[in-house]
Amino acid sequence: MISKKNIKSRGIVLILCLLLAGVTCAQTTVTIQEKENAPIISKHIYGHFAEHLGRCIYGGFYVGEDSNIPNTNGVRTDIIEALKELKVPNLRWPGGCFADTYHWKDGIGAKEDRPTIVNQWWGGVTEDNSFGTHDFLNLCEALGAEPYLAANIGSGTVKEFTDWIQYVNHDGESPMANLRKENGRDKPWGVTYWGVGNEMWGCGGNMTPEYYANLYRQYATFMSSWNNDKGIYRIASGANVDDYHWTEVLMRDIPKHLIEGVALHSYSFVEWNDKGPAANFNEKQYFKTMERALNMETLITKHVAVMDKYDPDKKIDLIVDEWGGWYNVEEGTNPGFLYQQNTMRDAMIAGTTLNIFNNHSERVKMANLAQTVNVLQAVILTDDEKMILTPTYHVMKMYAVHQDATLLPIDLKSDKYEFEGNSVPAISASASINKEGVAHVSLVNVDMNKAHKITLDFQKMKQNKTTANILTSAKVQDHNSFENPNKIVVKEYEDFKFKKGILELEVPAFSVIVFEIK
Ligand code: AHR
Repeated sequence: MISKKNIKSRGIVLILCLLLAGVTCAQTTVTIQEKENAPIISKHIYGHFAEHLGRCIYGGFYVGEDSNIPNTNGVRTDIIEALKELKVPNLRWPGGCFADTYHWKDGIGAKEDRPTIVNQWWGGVTEDNSFGTHDFLNLCEALGAEPYLAANIGSGTVKEFTDWIQYVNHDGESPMANLRKENGRDKPWGVTYWGVGNEMWGCGGNMTPEYYANLYRQYATFMSSWNNDKGIYRIASGANVDDYHWTEVLMRDIPKHLIEGVALHSYSFVEWNDKGPAANFNEKQYFKTMERALNMETLITKHVAVMDKYDPDKKIDLIVDEWGGWYNVEEGTNPGFLYQQNTMRDAMIAGTTLNIFNNHSERVKMANLAQTVNVLQAVILTDDEKMILTPTYHVMKMYAVHQDATLLPIDLKSDKYEFEGNSVPAISASASINKEGVAHVSLVNVDMNKAHKITLDFQKMKQNKTTANILTSAKVQDHNSFENPNKIVVKEYEDFKFKKGILELEVPAFSVIVFEIK
C-alpha cells in the first residue's frame, strides 16, 4: 500500500525510457513530480452527452414502455446496467444544437397529449416527446449520475428557462412545483448543472461573443437554485476549438458571481468537409485524427492561459462538454443521424484525451464525451434488441479508477510517432492516487506501427502488488460488431517485469494499459 504522505515526502519519480535490446535509445521519460496541494481529478471529467439526435435517445436509450426489449420506464435495462458499470458521473441533455430548439414543456404530462415535433437539426425526423424531463431525470437517478441540463437560449425566453429550474428544483408551493406534482413527481430532483445555451457562435444563434456575454448576464441573473442543496452551477456556452477570443470576451465581460464554468467544444476528424471512414481508414487518416485529438493539450493550455488572466484564483472551471471522434456516417444510414463505428482509433482518442483532462484537472472540472449511444464516438451501439460495447466504453471503464483521485502530476518526454515527415508524441500518460493510497498509471501508445519499450521507475514507491489491464487488438481498424461483440475486450496484462524496483514493459502499438500499484 502506498501512503500519500510517503509519496509526498519522498517524491515520486517514474521514468519511462525506451530501450532497444538493452541499448539506451531516445529518452522517453515520465517523471511524477512532487507537488503540494495537487488537484483532485473531478469525477465529472468522465461525463457523457446524450442529444435528441439520430438513434441516441429514440431507438437508443429509449424504446418505450411497451417494447419487447427489457426496459425500465421505457429505457433499455441493458444500457442502464452497462452505464452503471462505467460509473457515469453526469449526463448532458437534450443537446447540442437540439437544445436551442427544445421547449421543455412539450415533454411533460400525459405522453399521449405531448406534441409531435420535427427535429430540424438532425435528419428532419419527427419525435413525439415521449422522452422528456421526467424520463431523463429518472434515468439519471437510475444511473446514479448528476443531470446536466442544456437550456434553450437561442429560441427560448428567460421565463421558459427559469420555469424549468423551478419545476425540477423547488420543494414547496409554486406554480411549477405544483405542476410537477400533478405530473406525478412529488420531490424535486435537484439539478445543479445548467448550460446557458449551446454553441451560441453557431447553431445556438450565430451570436458574437459580446452579444452572447450580455445575454448570458441577463439569463444568469434570474437563475435561482430554488434551495437545491448543492446550489446552482451555470455553464456559459464556450468556444469552438481555438477561438480564444470567445473565451477572452466571456471571461472579461461576465461578472464572476454569475458564472461557474465556461465551455469548450473540440472534435477529432480528418477534415471537416470529408471526415473519412470510421473503420476502414488508412494511416494518413489515422495520423491526422490523432494530431487533432492530441491538440486538445494545446487548446486547454491556451484557453486556460486566457482564463488565468481574468481569474487567477481559478474560481471558474473549464468544461469540455463536447469532445470525441467524428467521421463520415456508416454507409446506408441517415446522414443526419451521425451513426459511426468505433475502433481502436477511438480507444486512442479516449485514452489520450482523458490523460490530457486528468493532467489539467486543476482547471478542467467536467467533460462530456459525444455521444453516449449510437451517435459519434459512442460507448454503446444498438441494433434492435442487440447491444454492443465499443473500445471507447472499455477505455472509460479502465480509467474510472481516476475519478475523484488525487492527480500525480507528471513530466513527460516521449519518443515520437512519425508519419510522412510529421510527428506526435507516441506515449501519453497520467497518474493518480486514491483515498485508499492505491495509485493508477494510464499509458497509451498511439504509434500505429510499433510497440514501445518503457521503464517505470517505482523505486521510491512502496508497493506490495502491481497489476495491469490492457486494451489492444491485431489491427487499429478493429472494432466490436453485432456478430462479434467481444472481439475487443479488456484483458489482464502480465507482460512486465521488475528489475530492482524498475518496471519494464513493452506497450504494444495502439494500445491502452492501466497499472494499479498497491
Ligand atoms: O454532437 C453533435 C453536435 O456537435 C452538437 O449538437 C453540437 O453542439 C456540435 O456541433
